[in-house]
Amino acid sequence: MPDTLSEHDTKPTAPRPLVRQPEVLEFLLTRRSRPAHSLRAPAPEGAELSMLLTAAARVPDHGKMEPWRFVLARGPALARLAALVETRGTALGLDPEKVAKQARAFADSPLMVAVIASPGSTERIPAIEQSYSAGAVCLSLLNAALSAGWGANWLSGFAAYDRGFLSEGLRLAPHEEVAGFIHIGTENAPPPERPRPDVTALTTWLEG
Ligand SMILES: Cc1cc2nc3c(=O)[nH]c(=O)nc-3n(C[C@H](O)[C@H](O)[C@H](O)COP(=O)(O)O)c2cc1C
Repeated sequence: MPDTLSEHDTKPTAPRPLVRQPEVLEFLLTRRSRPAHSLRAPAPEGAELSMLLTAAARVPDHGKMEPWRFVLARGPALARLAALVETRGTALGLDPEKVAKQARAFADSPLMVAVIASPGSTERIPAIEQSYSAGAVCLSLLNAALSAGWGANWLSGFAAYDRGFLSEGLRLAPHEEVAGFIHIGTENAPPPERPRPDVTALTTWLEG
């Protein structure tokens, strides 16, 4: 077992026998995203960043399609994306305030990981299942970052759906989409809790 988390590299690790892991459950029961605008440098890098991406990619994936990939940006690349958000938002006639807010999310981000849904053939595995797997990667990356002590936030916004931004900004192929922009960095202070679902009200047992 590695001494530190960052000693996990990108090689696959065999599953361990199942035992109760109260710390993991405690994390899942209290986890909370950190608003992107509150994140500052430093952000994870090097071996630790590789470890977070490795954790993120360890998700259910029907048919082992690996229908996702990562596009990372920091510094000047984020400045370029922020400028492109402004250009595209203006071209699309969007509310300038909303456009500026989305541009700032890129400009001020210490690190942005775009999780790209990159579906393969749908002959065996339906497109929606490949898409769910990409969503799972987003949540796993978020949780890996939070559990390693980094602030993280899953955002989308109009840029995530604008083909001009996707092709020019992220250089995606026409069949690819953004599942999420995951911003990662250092938090100032924990945010307040937000309303959580009443799980009982959302749960039904089939009686027979
Ligand atoms: C697919 C997806 C896209 C999102 N896009 C945005 C966004 O663009 N702007 C925003 O303020 N929140 C967005 N959110 C919500 C944030 O991630 C929000 O911080 C989250 O609901 C916090 O939940 P948590 O505390 O349980 O992690 C999005 C969430 C998801 C799942």
